Amino acid sequence: MRTQVAIIGAGPAGLLLAHLLAQGGIESVVLETRSEEYVSSRIRAGILEHSSVELLESVGLGARLRAEGDQHRGIHLQWPGERHHLDFVSLTGRSVWVYGQTELQKDLGATRTAEAHYEVSDVEVDTAGRVRFTDKDGRITVLEADFIAGCDGSFGPSRNAVPAAQKFEKVYPYSWFGILADVAPSTDELIYAWHPDGFALHSMRSSTVSRFYLQVPNGTDPQSWSDDRIWSALSKRLGHGQDGWKLNPGPITDKSVLPMRSYVQTPMRHDKLFLAGDAAHIVPPTGAKGLNLAIADVALLAKALISGDERLLDSYSDDAQRRVWRCTHFSWWMTTMLHTSGDPFDAELQLSQLRWVAGSRAGAAGLAENYAGLPIGY
Ligand code: FAD
Ligand code: DHB
Repeated sequence: MRTQVAIIGAGPAGLLLAHLLAQGGIESVVLETRSEEYVSSRIRAGILEHSSVELLESVGLGARLRAEGDQHRGIHLQWPGERHHLDFVSLTGRSVWVYGQTELQKDLGATRTAEAHYEVSDVEVDTAGRVRFTDKDGRITVLEADFIAGCDGSFGPSRNAVPAAQKFEKVYPYSWFGILADVAPSTDELIYAWHPDGFALHSMRSSTVSRFYLQVPNGTDPQSWSDDRIWSALSKRLGHGQDGWKLNPGPITDKSVLPMRSYVQTPMRHDKLFLAGDAAHIVPPTGAKGLNLAIADVALLAKALISGDERLLDSYSDDAQRRVWRCTHFSWWMTTMLHTSGDPFDAELQLSQLRWVAGSRAGAAGLAENYAGLPIGY
């Protein structure tokens, strides 16, 4: 089997890359270990940056996003006794959209711009341009390609195929407990809450579905938390009763625990193999950057592959890493500002920083510029 670009992984990075390449007249084949149904129902990120939305619209993927997504002007930042709205639009002229990764994944799956093989196994990457795999019927196939795009996330084989890569890693001493509930959101825009018991986030998926996150110790078993315990922790940390605000509880439909780490691998190219998205970097979710970084990587990579220009292909890794490190810093900064460590000195520094961010135009604009996102190509 032969193609111009072999894409490993049918997550948002892999499928969007296939779509962008098809628009530029480049043929690709996508290989994915999981089933299509599994990939499109994984509950993950929920926020799209301004420039991600602009890019998706410019390539014909904006219709359902516009119709069913929800544009937000900013976020609420709070700590006990205080809630402040940061209006990104007036601070930076840019907004964000609430649109679940599951929905984007469905939109990408529906475009079907490339040949895709789901439920493959034993994928082996040869950076000279060959991928060996076993298809779902047990046939061993060698796919030859001009280039390979490793879009196979943090557990795929691509990142380990880059020899002598430099790896940077930071593991955080807490995790996120993610909760999905069939209840109308109790807020118009997301609430990021600092609390002595730990961070809490109120997000949403639609007018009838709410998404919440609670800071919990590493190793927490989600089933060890009863629904009553979850609602009582969310009410306390999100400030139920504060200035008359109420958190509406409802049936919980999903509970999961997500460990948090920062990881960057460089370079993002070796020979014919290019890495994009979680295959090259992981951020803790507090800055809502993981999905957006994957989109920014493939926008750069598609441009280089379509141009065929060796200089652009050569500079892909350095160009991508500029944004990767900006988002790595922002995600670390949001995480360390909002998660409690139990140390009273750290808590006072966090509260001082929160007061400055919420109270100073310069502080608020810094957060807004990073959260709403820098232009593609930054
Ligand atoms: P992925 O979405 O991981 O896609 C990689 C694909 O490669 C997968 O479909 C995988 O099955 C496939 N694959 C793996 N191995 C192979 C192989 N050997 N051969 C072929 N295919 C393979 N970000 C946020 O901003 N906010 C969040 O709340 C948030 N929550 C998250 C929760 C979880 C549990 C996880 C794992 C991530 C979360 N993220 C979140 C991060 C965000 O979802 C990712 O940054 C985003 O999915 C990256 O897209 P990707 O296409 O690079 O990688
Ligand atoms: C969501 C996830 C995030 O990581 C974040 O910072 C904001 C919202 C979400 O899943 O809705």
